[in-house]
Amino acid sequence: MDQAPAHVIAPEAPAHAAALERVLDRAFGPGRFAKTSERVREQGARHRLDLSRVALRRDAPIGLCRMHDISVGGAPALFLGPLAVDPAHQQAGLGAALVEAALTAARIQPARAVLAVGAASFFAPFGFVPIPEGRVTMPGPVDPRRLLWLPLKHDAAEKLAGAVGPPMDLA
Ligand SMILES: CC(C)(COP(=O)(O)OP(=O)(O)OC[C@H]1O[C@@H](n2cnc3c(N)ncnc32)[C@H](O)[C@@H]1OP(=O)(O)O)[C@@H](O)C(=O)NCCC(=O)NCCS
Repeated sequence: MDQAPAHVIAPEAPAHAAALERVLDRAFGPGRFAKTSERVREQGARHRLDLSRVALRRDAPIGLCRMHDISVGGAPALFLGPLAVDPAHQQAGLGAALVEAALTAARIQPARAVLAVGAASFFAPFGFVPIPEGRVTMPGPVDPRRLLWLPLKHDAAEKLAGAVGPPMDLA
């Protein structure tokens, strides 16, 4: 009998790129390039392969949770996104497993918080809360109810404020 697990969560690797493009196309459809994660990337966010996680099924990528280095008002932070699971494999716990794995990697980083744009009900179990309106300026329009963060440092929720920009060492 095949005892191999149905899926494995692993760090993202360059070799996954083409398959992940297909996952993103299938999960988001034609609206995918209108997503906030695209605007954040255009602002100079740095994709962190080492913190990003993929879901593999028989070595084939079927989901991803990307992490990017950014700054918020000049302080180090991370942006979570895009997050997507191939529609054929949704509602099986993979999205939550990907976020959990990426956050575990993020917690040992100097980042003060992890920002995300998405459904508050999906992200709340991980500790994400809405960012107080006006505290953080995102590139492009964002529904403030979907603009969330997970503070990682004790004073992040009080002190982190300003515009999202590229990571400080590139600014
Ligand atoms: C959002 C997405 C990644 C979730 O992946 P998934 O593997 O289906 O999620 P899970 O099975 O791990 O679900 C975890 C929980 O979140 C809930 N959930 C799933 N998708 C949700 C959504 N879009 N909004 C709110 N809650 C959601 C599930 O019902 C489940 O709740 P439960 O634990 O109470 O049962 C997936 O639906 C997807 O790729 N959607 C299209 C792209 C997208 O919208 N990405 C998010 C932008 S940040």
